[in-house]
Amino acid sequence: NKVVLAYSGGLDTSAIVPWLKENYGCEVVAFVADVGQGEEELAGVEQKAIASGASACYVVDLKEEMVSDYIYPTLKTGATYEGTYLLGTSMARPIIAKAQVEIARKVGADALSHGCTGKGNDQVRFESCFSALAPDLKVIAPWREWSLSSRESLLDYLAERNIPCAASATKIYSRDANAWHISHEGGELEDPWNEPSSQVWTMTNSPEAAPDKPEYVSLLVEKGEITAVNGERYSPYQCLVKLNEIAAPHGVGRVDIVENRLVGMKSRGCYETPGGTVMMAALQAIDELILDKSCRKWKASLSEEFAHLVYDGRWFTPLKDSILAAAESFAQQATGEVVLKLYKGHVQAVQKQSINSLYSEDFATFGEDDVYDQSHAEGFIRLFSLSSRISALNKLKQQ
Ligand code: ARG
Ligand code: SIN
Repeated sequence: NKVVLAYSGGLDTSAIVPWLKENYGCEVVAFVADVGQGEEELAGVEQKAIASGASACYVVDLKEEMVSDYIYPTLKTGATYEGTYLLGTSMARPIIAKAQVEIARKVGADALSHGCTGKGNDQVRFESCFSALAPDLKVIAPWREWSLSSRESLLDYLAERNIPCAASATKIYSRDANAWHISHEGGELEDPWNEPSSQVWTMTNSPEAAPDKPEYVSLLVEKGEITAVNGERYSPYQCLVKLNEIAAPHGVGRVDIVENRLVGMKSRGCYETPGGTVMMAALQAIDELILDKSCRKWKASLSEEFAHLVYDGRWFTPLKDSILAAAESFAQQATGEVVLKLYKGHVQAVQKQSINSLYSEDFATFGEDDVYDQSHAEGFIRLFSLSSRISALNKLKQQ
């Protein structure tokens, strides 16, 4: 009996290791996904896992693959959940689940486990991905089974077993970090009447403390991907890292929302997505130039549909392939250059151009032109509003 646990090195998953061994009599293999959560979280994670009783610990670097194969496809759909959430946690779950299944196959495990609570979205995402990728493996979700309900009880549980743990009894927020974002939930945020305190934010500067001078950043966009920043080429992951570095000091990418969880309840979340917010703004600027009215409308429905798909953990489905195929066909045209201005929490695309731009100054000018015959508009308006005219004429007749 062998189970692969998605392990983070935090208090919850540290307690899950001995709990699985005691309650399932199994060997526990720890799996750590490096999704760019940072050195601080990853430092010493293998030793921690072994100290908790894991028989082995695999740390898998997923950073480039996550940006290329999960973040970019999502970005190309323009998805944001309920208007503002850039889906940072949601997008990371499928790649973590996939890599976890790969480790399970490698070590010949017969079960998978995770540290998500029974109240959230993440359990649904992990387990839906497990279903799609490894229907034969059993899933163990300790939070839905055990009676350890507070940080104190988890710490006591570890102390009773002489398992060292550096976690403190008072951790205020539940956070989830990767290269794209960090999320914050819990603590005073549970009351939507409380403004997030300054302790909440960890990735970005506050707009108040941001520089008084705006900064301009120039991005090269090729087929829906950002390939250069200020004239320098970067890999997808390195580009995200670079844009985080540039945007975070300006307080760009903070979001504070009450959102609908898949399991029905509302929850309050604060998110920081500095680089991602800039990337999103750049791609939107290109879309403004290249997509006609009907394409923008269609893309907006793709965005909406895909946001729910990602949020709801339905990555490994035929619907994902279908929506991404549509988004990719637009992305093929999304090539150009955008200059964005970062200032006090805001990002604004102030210069944009594309070889595929449908914008034509010759047509749009308020000055004199010789390409657009204004008299053609009259007939267009007559026909465009014909049904209104007929209906109004009917009403006149009935008076
Ligand atoms: N509410 C966000 C989402 O569902 C963030 C979840 C954060 N997860 C966590 N384990 N702290 O995508
Ligand atoms: C959790 O409940 O484990 C985190 C929050 C969420 O999944 O929505």
